[in-house]
Amino acid sequence: MDPPVVEVRGLRKSFGAREVLRGIDLTVGAGDVVCVIGPSGSGKSTLLRCVNLLEQPTAGSIRLLGVDVTDPEVDIDRVRTHVGMVFQSFNLFPHKTVMGNLTLAQRSVLRRSEAAARDVALHNLRKVGLEDRADAYPAQLSGGQQQRVAIARALSMDPALMLFDEPTSALDPELVGDVLAVMRDLAQSGMTMIVVTHEMAFARDVGDRVVFMDEGLIMEEGPARQLIGSPATERARVFLHRVLHPTDVADSELGQTEPTRPGDPDHTAAGGAGWAGPPPRWPRADGRGDDAEGHVPLTVR
Ligand SMILES: Nc1ncnc2c1ncn2[C@@H]1O[C@H](COP(=O)(O)OP(=O)(O)O)[C@@H](O)[C@H]1O
Ligand SMILES: [Mg+2]
Repeated sequence: MDPPVVEVRGLRKSFGAREVLRGIDLTVGAGDVVCVIGPSGSGKSTLLRCVNLLEQPTAGSIRLLGVDVTDPEVDIDRVRTHVGMVFQSFNLFPHKTVMGNLTLAQRSVLRRSEAAARDVALHNLRKVGLEDRADAYPAQLSGGQQQRVAIARALSMDPALMLFDEPTSALDPELVGDVLAVMRDLAQSGMTMIVVTHEMAFARDVGDRVVFMDEGLIMEEGPARQLIGSPATERARVFLHRVLHPTDVADSELGQTEPTRPGDPDHTAAGGAGWAGPPPRWPRADGRGDDAEGHVPLTVR
């Protein structure tokens, strides 16, 4: 049997005295799409950066395609060519055209001929719907288009694994959908992906599994629909509530002692920041009160 694409065991990472990853175990099989959610500062980016060897783990092991990449003997640059990474900021070279951005690493790292690199680049530009923008410069493109170019650039290295770190967080809201659609297509084409995202509808609908991180640990992991729809841990419930209802005001901030129920006329929040009562129940999307199945209203783009 083929080894998993990613196998993380007992991963720890400290910056000085501060331990930001405190023992992470994660396995990602071929074709899996794993979405990572969790509050800011919980270690999501550090986890991705360790998998991509941009950070050196303090302890534990990371295997990529069966190779222990924490072994000092391993050729890190070679391993890294198998991993595509897309960041919140697009990191395109501003003085190069789209085509120039897509062919550069293919030529220098994979030693492809100019013609071969251009063929691969065009193929991937087509995938992200930008084959007609090959000669444009990044500044002539919208943020969403630039991010799609960044995805095409990563794909042009024929990665075995794609890592996304909040790829839509820097985009204007109306540009998010096109980028998510490209990522959805990629997932459906069988790409192995780890996606850090706050787009809960994407995580629910495209993710096979969701991992909820908090304070350097995986607090909960499960099938995407189950974890997003009815998280098992209180921390995941509170986090999801905050993300899905960002304008809610915590009852404690309103000076209320009794939480209101979703059916109440003045219901504003159940389980916002500072929630101290019983676990929040999700309001139904149709506003008809509690739903034992934990139906979460989500904006689907
Ligand atoms: N290079 C670094 N040096 C020192 N601290 C860092 C560094 N990178 C991240 N951290 C700290 O590690 C913690 C986790 O950060 P990060 O992985 O970026 O979290 P997330 O992506 O979940 O918001 C944060 O407290 C952050 O300040
Ligand atoms: Mg981050």
